[in-house]
Amino acid sequence: MLLLALETTCDETGAAVLDGPAPPMIGVPRVLSSVVASQIDLHERFGGVVPEIAARAHVRQLLPVIDEALKRAGVTLAQIHMIAVATRPGLVGALIVGLTAAKSLALALDVPLVAIDHLEGHLYACQLAYPDREVYPCVGLVVSGGHTSLYHCRGPIDAELLGGTIDDAAGEAFDKVASLLGLGYPGGPEIERVARSGNPKAFAFPRSFLHDERIAFSFSGLKTAVLYALKGQDARTTSVAPPPALVADLAASFQDAVVEILAAKARQALRRTGLRRLGLGGGVAANGRFRDRIAAMARDEGVELFIPPLSLCTDNAAMGGIAFAKLAAGQVAELDVDVTPGLVRPGRSNGSSTKTGAGKPAPA
Ligand code: KG4
Ligand code: ZN
Repeated sequence: MLLLALETTCDETGAAVLDGPAPPMIGVPRVLSSVVASQIDLHERFGGVVPEIAARAHVRQLLPVIDEALKRAGVTLAQIHMIAVATRPGLVGALIVGLTAAKSLALALDVPLVAIDHLEGHLYACQLAYPDREVYPCVGLVVSGGHTSLYHCRGPIDAELLGGTIDDAAGEAFDKVASLLGLGYPGGPEIERVARSGNPKAFAFPRSFLHDERIAFSFSGLKTAVLYALKGQDARTTSVAPPPALVADLAASFQDAVVEILAAKARQALRRTGLRRLGLGGGVAANGRFRDRIAAMARDEGVELFIPPLSLCTDNAAMGGIAFAKLAAGQVAELDVDVTPGLVRPGRSNGSSTKTGAGKPAPA
C-alpha cells in the first residue's frame, strides 16, 4: 500500500511516497520518492531558524513538494492509501501547516491519517536504510538541531528515554559556535569543513558529564569556552576577524569535544542496557568525524551500528515510513488530532505522548 508522508517540523519542507505492506503484514517499506525543499537561504541571515518565516515558507512550498514527490514516485494522489505527518515535536506554526495539509488530504481521499513522532522517525531512518537487517531493539541516539537524546528502543514505536541534554542540543551548539566563529548557517557542515585544517588538540575544551554516571548532555559550557578562547575571558567584542588558523583550531577542538562526549555517552547507554545495536539519527549524524568516532566505539564494544545515509539523517519525510508500524499497531489518528510542539516528559512513548530531553519547547 502507498503512503504519502509529510514533514514540516522545522525548516525543511518534505514529502515522500513509500510502498509498504498492508496490515496484518508487517515489513519495511520502500522509499519511492523523497523530496525536501530547504529553507536555509531564508534563515541564513538570521543565523538560525525564524519560526514565523519557517511556517510561511512551508505554506508556499508544501503543495509543490507533494506534487514533485508523487511525480517522482510515478503515482497519483488517488492511488495513495495512507497519509502520515510528523505532529511532534517542532515549531508550532510549522507543525500546523503540515498537519492541516495532512488532515485535508486524509479527509478528501478518505484514507487513514497517522501522526508520527519526529524523533522516532529519525531513528526509523536506520531501518529504512537497512531494510534486510533487524535494527530493533537498539540504543537510539538522536543528535539534531533541537535534540540530543539517547533512547532504549524496544521497537520502532516503543522508545524509552534514557537521557538527554540539559541545555543546548549538539546541533544547536554547532550552529552557535559557527556563528561565533563567523562561519555560515547551518553551522555543522561549516565547522566540519573548517575543522579539517585545524588541530583538534589545540584547545582542551570541557566535556560535560563525560565521567558522570548520569546519561545526560550539556553543551552550553563548551560553547562559552569557545567564546572565551576566541575573545578572552571578558568576551570583548572586536571587529577584527580572527585568523583562519585560529578558527580552524577552535572548530576542530570544539568538534572533537562534542564527538567524544556523544560517543562516550552512547557507549554508556549500550553498557547499561546490554543492547547490542546502536542506531543514529538527526543532522549531526551527517558529521564525518562523528561517524568515524562512533564506528570505532561500536567496533570496540562489538555492537552493530546503523547510520542512515546523509539524506535520511537530516530532516526528510521518508522517515514517516514508520507510519506502517503505527498502522499495524492500530495507531491511527482522529481528524481532530493536534500538534505537540514541545517535549512533554520522559518515559515510554505510546503513540500519544511525547518524550523529553530538557523539557523546553524545541525545534525538532
Ligand atoms: O535533524 P536536522 O536536519 O534538523 C533538526 O531536526 O534539527 O538537524 C539539523 C542540525 C543543525 O544544527 C546542523 O548544524 C546539524 O544538524 N548538522 C551537522 C552537520 N550537518 C548538519 N552538524 C555537524 N556536522 C555536520 N556535517
Ligand atoms: Zn530533525
